[in-house]
Amino acid sequence: MVAPALKEETFRELRDFVHEKSGIYIPDTKKYLLENRLIRRLEERKLTSYENYLSLIKYSGNGDEIRKLFDVITTNETYFFREPRQLDIFVKHVVPSILSTGSKGIRVWSAACSTGEEPYTIAIVFNEYQETRLIRKEIIASDISNGVLEAAMKSAYSSYSVRNVSEGHLKKYFRNTGGVYYLDPGIKAMVKFSNINLVEEKQVRTMRNLDVVFCRNVLIYFDDRNKRKAISSLYDSLKPKGYLFIGMSESLHTVTRAFRPIIINKTVVYQKV
Ligand SMILES: C[S@@+](CC[C@H](N)C(=O)[O-])C[C@H]1O[C@@H](n2cnc3c(N)ncnc32)[C@H](O)[C@@H]1O
Repeated sequence: MVAPALKEETFRELRDFVHEKSGIYIPDTKKYLLENRLIRRLEERKLTSYENYLSLIKYSGNGDEIRKLFDVITTNETYFFREPRQLDIFVKHVVPSILSTGSKGIRVWSAACSTGEEPYTIAIVFNEYQETRLIRKEIIASDISNGVLEAAMKSAYSSYSVRNVSEGHLKKYFRNTGGVYYLDPGIKAMVKFSNINLVEEKQVRTMRNLDVVFCRNVLIYFDDRNKRKAISSLYDSLKPKGYLFIGMSESLHTVTRAFRPIIINKTVVYQKV
């Protein structure tokens, strides 16, 4: 098939549709990105133009295709033990502070978990941390893309995904068969997955009483309005004094003052006040 052209007007309509449904904002300068990602959908649906694809998602009430659209427009880069300074603060400051309240359990949510490396890292960290041995640990993980959630549930990883895992942890928590790293079933069982769209308030409202939310490296794809919307929903999902981690390169400075930034070891964690 000769690649069809994406006209300016159609690009804007597609961009606005993606924005409305997912919060993800694709600026004019990234038109090529939308074009490259959607061509896969056109090919699979045997469509000859982007206009036909727009009609398909806009007017046919085609929920299945919108889910597939989320799979191709999202950026899912992730790996085990990403941003270890935050993990260190989680285990040395956040968890002890929650335990010091006499809490008998800890509920953690990985709110844009991609292929599972983030929530499974949290599970490994819990497993290594003896003080949480006797308490109830709940790790809930979600994403807007069903494709990545299916991969997460398979829990089989490439060497690239585990490149930050120490030798000791690799031996203890993975089985390497032909270069594929299969996660330990006990760690796998510690995480429950579901599909939650962070800009759909009704969906986020199903998440309540969290002690800690990890929402790392996803708000960067949203415009300010949707960042505020998502952060406000995450705020409601946390218990009073609950903690929020966003990506190391992100900030809530222009988004909200509802959280108190706590700086430990040059790293920020936000606390609900
Ligand atoms: C770059 S990955 C980050 C994964 C992980 N949190 C980390 O830091 O390694 C961003 C993830 O956000 C998800 N995402 C994008 N928009 C979303 C939305 N509106 N609701 C939930 N997840 C979303 C994408 O599908 C993608 O898997």
